[in-house]
Amino acid sequence: MKNRENWNSRLGFILAASGSAVGLGNIWKFPTMVAENGGAAFTLIYLICIFVVGLSILLAELIIGRKTQLSAVGAYKKLSKKKMWVFNGFLGTLSADVILSFYVVVGGWTLKYSFLSLFGFLNNLNSLTQSESIFNNFISLRFEPLFWQSSFMLITIFVIINGIKNGIEKWSKIMMPFIIILLIILAIRGLLLDGSVEGLKFLFNPKFDLITPHSIVLALGHSFFTLSLGMGTMVAYGSYLNNKQNLLMSGIWIIVLDTFIALVAGIAIFTTVFALGSEPQEGAGFIFTVLPIIFNQLIGGQLWSTVFFTLLFMAALTSSISLLEVVTSYFVDERKWSRKKSTIIFGGIIIIVGMFCSLSLGGGLNISPFKNITFFNLMDLISSKYMLPIGGLLVSLFIIFEFKVSNFIKELNHKNSFFILNKKFVLLIFTISSIVVGFILINEIYSLLSGSSIIGNK
Ligand code: TRP
Repeated sequence: MKNRENWNSRLGFILAASGSAVGLGNIWKFPTMVAENGGAAFTLIYLICIFVVGLSILLAELIIGRKTQLSAVGAYKKLSKKKMWVFNGFLGTLSADVILSFYVVVGGWTLKYSFLSLFGFLNNLNSLTQSESIFNNFISLRFEPLFWQSSFMLITIFVIINGIKNGIEKWSKIMMPFIIILLIILAIRGLLLDGSVEGLKFLFNPKFDLITPHSIVLALGHSFFTLSLGMGTMVAYGSYLNNKQNLLMSGIWIIVLDTFIALVAGIAIFTTVFALGSEPQEGAGFIFTVLPIIFNQLIGGQLWSTVFFTLLFMAALTSSISLLEVVTSYFVDERKWSRKKSTIIFGGIIIIVGMFCSLSLGGGLNISPFKNITFFNLMDLISSKYMLPIGGLLVSLFIIFEFKVSNFIKELNHKNSFFILNKKFVLLIFTISSIVVGFILINEIYSLLSGSSIIGNK
């Protein structure tokens, strides 16, 4: 068998994996979620979810990939006596398609807005109604969004075709430092504005009365989404690792970078929004409608908004490549297709499914079976509410019942590790993760079927 391509360096791997983790979830979803769900109180719950459930499942996925040197489907086949676990590999590969189909649509928006800012087309915006109408008109057009999302997908395909070292690793190494530096500059810019403290208060002042069981569900679901868990991304990325690396430390690095970037994005956005006397708004469009006007009020607005949308584009790109890699690596490992063939065929299929997502936003074609919800939102909901948690739960159960905690610890314990992991402790963590995720899933399914929820409505 041909030798599997490996990451070039540990840093390269950490940047690629955190590139997967850092994406629209951090900059587009997280700040609004914090704002709507109790500020610092929500952040706290989110941090607990990330470090308990997130870290254990992240490490489990990396280990499954590294141990087998295969992507998810092949990895479960190789590691399990019972064939039912292989289902998890297939589920993950399917989830990747579902997520990518709406992800590329938003990726296309970030590309379009980067160009609009760069060439000064957003300079004349001064009222929210004006910028909302530009955004809403754009996303409900029939053809133009398709052009942008196809371009976004073509860039993703280009990176993946070039493989691990020369594709994913190379581009993550270029883009991640950019994202981090640019976001820090934006955050400092925001903090230096008069009145920025209001933004910090909004973000970091705990409001415990806003915390409901639903926000806990949200925090947990988001910790899966933001760490790219529950669908085999990290299994695929782990499969390009060799045995030399201390996985526990790498896992902690990935989580710290991801959380740091989400918080800095929150600071950059809310300090600026509050300092300029605006109010954060709910909803997906916030970043595309409110921010451009806010940037216009700053000196050098065109530059700041170009910086922001470009970094958002790069963050989306390092994530979409990791999603496409899941599908590509399945066809390369299991069907023996060439990397080029599988990337192009599946990239093409996703462009088509993505078109249905985009057209459901006003382009005149909504193929969602539930008529009051758009196909775009349906893809988002199915994946983040059901597929990722199911995937995550199965990983956790897989470690407890099939792979065994003692083997997990053996894979993790590295000679340079400061931590000595205790078997009972690790088992406890996986048990807690399984129970929490399992409960949330049961509740989601119950509320889907009955219209009300075990833990009470919002
Ligand atoms: N983590 C990315 C974000 O925060 C999105 C993402 C990439 C993802 N790969 C994934 C989510 C795999 C779930 C599973 O935007």
